[in-house]
Amino acid sequence: MNQFSTTNDYQGTPSFYNSQEVFERFLAGTSYYLGLQNAVSRLVSLIKPKNMLELGFGTGATACRLASEHPDIGIDAIDARANMIPTGEEQARLRQLDNVRFTQGDLLDYVDENKHLPDLVYMLYVFHHIPDPSEKKIEFLKTCKDKLPEGGYLCIADVFIPETPNKTELEARLLQNWSMRIMEAYSSVFWTALDDVNPESVARAQQAGRYSMKQEQEAGDLVIRRDKEYMVSTAWLVEEAGKIGFSVIVNEPVNTVGDSVVLLRNDT
Ligand SMILES: C[S@@+](CC[C@H](N)C(=O)[O-])C[C@H]1O[C@@H](n2cnc3c(N)ncnc32)[C@H](O)[C@@H]1O
Repeated sequence: MNQFSTTNDYQGTPSFYNSQEVFERFLAGTSYYLGLQNAVSRLVSLIKPKNMLELGFGTGATACRLASEHPDIGIDAIDARANMIPTGEEQARLRQLDNVRFTQGDLLDYVDENKHLPDLVYMLYVFHHIPDPSEKKIEFLKTCKDKLPEGGYLCIADVFIPETPNKTELEARLLQNWSMRIMEAYSSVFWTALDDVNPESVARAQQAGRYSMKQEQEAGDLVIRRDKEYMVSTAWLVEEAGKIGFSVIVNEPVNTVGDSVVLLRNDT
């Protein structure tokens, strides 16, 4: 097992992905999750890999979407939590997908133990789960670089923290940024949840929006305390990836509330 394996720690941590129901009420309706998923989907269409790997599939929503958009691409998806496998498999069964496979595993162990990685490895809201110290993330990037084929890609779609000169400023900027994210959670989920124009439907959509807002508030507290959410800045990521020898192909925001996509290629 990788010395930095986090599987056991992760089992007990809070997650908005604990069930399909929570996922659908919260994250699936937010503009930022959909924005990141759209960005990954666009990159897959452009890269056209033969096969790919999702590290940390959650409910399997992204893996199933990509499997459905690209029936010719085989997708392996792994997650630390064995109890999420039936959720992913059920989504695949409902959509009659036969090109996606869900397996339990720790992502650090997986990249360590497999000799070769496929043409494209992607992670959506997962890189920040690799815990501190930051050497663990660097070690992970190095292992991916070693095991990707020449021309293979690592796509990191995530929420990032701003680059700041010190901790105090970081905390202040995070509080500021996160308040916008909380409002974005409310407003985007309200509009996704609204299904009629009577007072009951509006009240239901408001309730869904407030629920999402509360989830995001709790996440913000963890981010600031660096407790179970170990975010980095895109500047840090591209600098470290560059030192390892990755080519940085894309480093672009997808919105104004912290989400970006960094696409790295192994050119050696
Ligand atoms: C935010 S969710 C991922 C959402 C998913 N990628 C999607 O697009 O819907 C984070 C997932 O990462 C998984 N995870 C966290 N640490 C992990 C690790 N070390 N190995 C494997 N999975 C891990 C969690 O179990 C959780 O399901």
